[in-house]
Amino acid sequence: PAPGWSIAADVVVVGSGVAGLTAALRCEAAGLDTVVVTKARLDDGSTRWAQGGIAAALGEGDTPEQHLDDTLVAGAGLCDENAVRLLVTEGPDAVRRLIATGAHFDESDEGGLELTREGGHHRRRIAHAGGDATGAEISRALVEAVRARGVRAIENALVLDLLTDADGRTAGVTLHVMGEGQHDGVGAVHAPAVVLATGGMGQVFSATTNPSVSTGDGVALALRAGAEVSDLEFVQFHPTVLFLGPDAEGQQPLVSEAVRGEGAHLVDADGVRFMVGQHELAELAPRDIVAKGIMRRMQEQDAEHMFLDARHFGAEMWEHRFPTILAACRAHGIDPVHEPIPIAPAAHYASGGVRTDSHGRTTVPGLYACGEVACTGVHGANRLASNSLLEGLVYAERIAADIATGRSADGLPAREPQAVPQPEKPSHPLLAAEARFAIQRIMADGAGVLRSAPSLEQAADQLQRLHADARDALDENGKTAEPGVDTWEATNLLCVARVLVAAAALREETRGCHWREDHAGRDDTRWRRHIVVRLNPDRT
Ligand code: SIN
Repeated sequence: PAPGWSIAADVVVVGSGVAGLTAALRCEAAGLDTVVVTKARLDDGSTRWAQGGIAAALGEGDTPEQHLDDTLVAGAGLCDENAVRLLVTEGPDAVRRLIATGAHFDESDEGGLELTREGGHHRRRIAHAGGDATGAEISRALVEAVRARGVRAIENALVLDLLTDADGRTAGVTLHVMGEGQHDGVGAVHAPAVVLATGGMGQVFSATTNPSVSTGDGVALALRAGAEVSDLEFVQFHPTVLFLGPDAEGQQPLVSEAVRGEGAHLVDADGVRFMVGQHELAELAPRDIVAKGIMRRMQEQDAEHMFLDARHFGAEMWEHRFPTILAACRAHGIDPVHEPIPIAPAAHYASGGVRTDSHGRTTVPGLYACGEVACTGVHGANRLASNSLLEGLVYAERIAADIATGRSADGLPAREPQAVPQPEKPSHPLLAAEARFAIQRIMADGAGVLRSAPSLEQAADQLQRLHADARDALDENGKTAEPGVDTWEATNLLCVARVLVAAAALREETRGCHWREDHAGRDDTRWRRHIVVRLNPDRT
């Protein structure tokens, strides 16, 4: 649709989690006229739900090198070592700057930061806030700082598409703003630099830890704009999500890895600790290994869930250390002080996303990406726990520095895209809002924790049918659904789901969080490489 209003800026940041707000604050501090646009309110999005914390080599005896080693092991051979090195070496100072910005982390009795452990970490290196409310504290501090510094913000603004000039360089974004205010309806923010920080796509599955706003908008925009997207098949399933029944849909309560980091046990229906003996770190093995261990035992016992037992913490520790999780469990009638918590894996994090270099540049000049929407190469085939808040911080700062030096016109050189099936016609007709639920079910059944060629083929066919129905309606009536947040979100979900399924079908091996039942092992000869996708630009 044609924009009805427009404003101009030096930089437009899309998204308001840790990555977006850090990028905005650093751009503004560098003297750049910065606008933040966000789909709901400034404090909505995944950051505020983060529990465990933020990983960095801040503890005595810990080093960036050890953090690097743990990250590379979790990434199962697909991390970009240089990207990880930047993350772990710049991470500790980035956390200190976050503290200087106003975030309060929990401190030990001796006065230093209190650090915990999570899966895949050989040391205590996770800083946390409010016990298990780390993301909420980071979000509070960053939102306050953005407001205090007068950074322009447009809320309730769904990003639609990238604007480019005649040379294919970024020129801004189009938006749909809902509600009363200075701007309303479809409009544009013109800017030579756009930072995508739109978060993840967990809502592509029925059960996820992600809030309802995580609908893959940034990846869909990037695909429509012809940017490269990488590693979409690597969806991380968090091992311990409160089990609320087999048909539970939408955002599900997370039970942080930090609960295991403090000594909770995973047990089966008979009370047996099934991770012991499977990995040297038992319950604290990397996340993919624990999720698979749980799924296997569920299959063996024909059970819908396993249990996390932390009764031995006692009431005082539960109340002091994990107040958010305690309240969530009690709200669902489970008291972890007196009973084991029923848990099962659920979709949690997109390790892949819009491909960037070490400055956050994508393959479209002037378009940047950071946070969950990006694929910087840091996570490889499986993200190490609590590296995501850190990645958002570090790479947002790198992007702001790059834009401030005036290099935003250079894009990342394109790679040869893989032979992922392209839509016959690169069009993205608007879907009816209800299609969201059909997509989620199709993805949960065909492309969830366990995948195989037949399950992925079925998912691809069903998704193609949804697309074809919308396209036929467009051809017949010139119109499909009414433009609005729900219909655009459903359209974005379908776009990312189709590419995810195509990439998962192509990768005929099991690696990291991509588990193929028909290709059990890791195949380094064929698959120690990335699946990179680029669609033909389509700006209708
Ligand atoms: C958690 O608290 O378990 C989540 C940590 C993460 O996803 O990195």
